[in-house]
Amino acid sequence: MNIIGIETSCDETAAAVVKDGREVLSNVVYTQIPLHQPYGGVVPEIASRAHIEKITQVVGDAMKGQTVDAVTVTYGPGLAPALIVGLNAAKGLAKSLGVPLIAVNHIEAHLHSPFIYDSPDDAAAQLSDPREIGPMLGLAVSGGNTVWIDMPEYGKYEVIGETLDDAAGEAFDKAARTMGMPYPGGIALDKVAEDGDPHAFTLPRPVVHDAPYDFSFSGLKTAVINLIHNSAQKGIELNKADVCASFRYAVVDCLTTNFLRAAEDLGVKKLVIAGGVSANSLLRSTLEAECKKRGYEFYMPDKSLCGDNAAMVGSQGYYEYLSGNIAKTDLNAYATMSIE
Ligand code: KG4
Repeated sequence: MNIIGIETSCDETAAAVVKDGREVLSNVVYTQIPLHQPYGGVVPEIASRAHIEKITQVVGDAMKGQTVDAVTVTYGPGLAPALIVGLNAAKGLAKSLGVPLIAVNHIEAHLHSPFIYDSPDDAAAQLSDPREIGPMLGLAVSGGNTVWIDMPEYGKYEVIGETLDDAAGEAFDKAARTMGMPYPGGIALDKVAEDGDPHAFTLPRPVVHDAPYDFSFSGLKTAVINLIHNSAQKGIELNKADVCASFRYAVVDCLTTNFLRAAEDLGVKKLVIAGGVSANSLLRSTLEAECKKRGYEFYMPDKSLCGDNAAMVGSQGYYEYLSGNIAKTDLNAYATMSIE
């Protein structure tokens, strides 16, 4: 069964055709990053307008040479004026093709990204069907979300912890901006960090009392920004690579400590990460090593599938279809939406 996924929740206009929930037949992503760069972040009105301008072309490119049996679309969480563009395109496409319309949650879709593949020879193709993996613990970490999710069985989600303020990607982007890197600076910061000393600067690890898995990134972000500004005022030149490495180490330490503690507390031995920040080299290598040490199974998406894409939407949509979850034509978009 071929499903076209449509994704417009933030600053990527994306469409992809996925066969039987796993095999990616086409995957088109138009990124709006250059449009938002002058403003240092995503401007919802610009995002919405750019989605309108690109959606027909992106969907058309993804559908070239493909047959489509259903249309699935992200309906939240995300920027409402951006989501609505994908939603309306999906409704029109489903109606014109005479196929079912399926709605998916953006975070739930991200968690499917480790299981999708381009070619049956890819490592991801050798993994079990996500429905058969059993209890897992997920970390969805992006520019908009940082959330730890207990998944006792496929399709059942309980949020056990989340950031109380900034998402990890947002903290990366703001720290990077303070060091003069263009939006979104997370990727650049990750690269510069490779040449630095992660122990050069001691940064705080803020904890939330009475909520062991919740987290606050705002204090950590402010600490690195203060370090940079105070040094500049005193005329002290900081080694940029050391600042990047120390900050990256602090963020990854916070993310992995919470994650591994939760796994131990809940007795879960399978961990999955997804979202833009799951492309972070240190996060990937740390969790890979820690899981190996503990005998846990670890699932992470190919780096090309960490950020927003529509292949993950097509994947999630397939399993929704199998569960009989067909959307009505009055489907609406939701800026906030729990995965539970
Ligand atoms: O999932 P995503 O594409 O979009 C949403 O936020 O929904 O995530 C984008 C975020 C940005 O904050 C970006 O800086 C961050 O993911 N990111 C990274 C890396 N690659 C992308 N952060 C740290 N290290 C990376 N390698």
